[in-house]
Amino acid sequence: MTQDDAIKALSTDALKLVKNNQIIGLGSGRAATSFVKSLSLFVKKKKFNVRCIPTSLQIKLEAEKGKLHLIDTVPEKIDIVFDGADQIDKEKNLIKGGGGALLRENILINAAKKVVIMADDSKFVTNLKRDVPVEVHPLARNTVAKDISKIGGKSSIRTLDRGYPFITENGNIILDCNFGVIKKPKLLQERIKKITGVLEVGIFTRKPDIIYKAKSNGKFDVIK
Ligand code: A5P
Repeated sequence: MTQDDAIKALSTDALKLVKNNQIIGLGSGRAATSFVKSLSLFVKKKKFNVRCIPTSLQIKLEAEKGKLHLIDTVPEKIDIVFDGADQIDKEKNLIKGGGGALLRENILINAAKKVVIMADDSKFVTNLKRDVPVEVHPLARNTVAKDISKIGGKSSIRTLDRGYPFITENGNIILDCNFGVIKKPKLLQERIKKITGVLEVGIFTRKPDIIYKAKSNGKFDVIK
């Protein structure tokens, strides 16, 4: 049994949170992909009339494969969002944006009545400490990098394998910013967000309602 088995198992368990006629936000990444696969089968079997909003082309393609009904505008409220995370601290603050979908993910999470996060146990830490993805307008890359350094961060432009800059689906770049151990995530998030040219910060401080933790023995914990 592996963590992948645990992710599959928890994706099935999370279906109990899905109700007919809901509007459902779909996060991005491997855990979200696993959930979308389970959701597609479930919705077909139950003949549920749910509408889904994808946070990236990656998850949109997966949802299309599963014939989920997709909408492309976020209504005033979303019933529930299912997403992954890159790191989770003891207070349930998150780092997200490893796949570059942080802006759309944050829009959905902030509109959601309920947020469900699914992640393997390697991502759970006492304090956040991995690089913070920051979505930045390309024109502002140097000024933002300077302002990030003023608040103690060291940034680098995210690139693809052969050195091309990674461009988000919104036409922006990502600066991955190292701040060491992050003791005050909310404060750091606010300071980065104030920088002109920053579109989104990969520190999410809205606490998830439910966290699924996948374990290497194929089992999972549910943290509420
Ligand atoms: C996408 O930008 C991210 O926020 C993902 O949700 C995050 O990287 C988790 O992805 P995995 O489930 O693939 O680890």
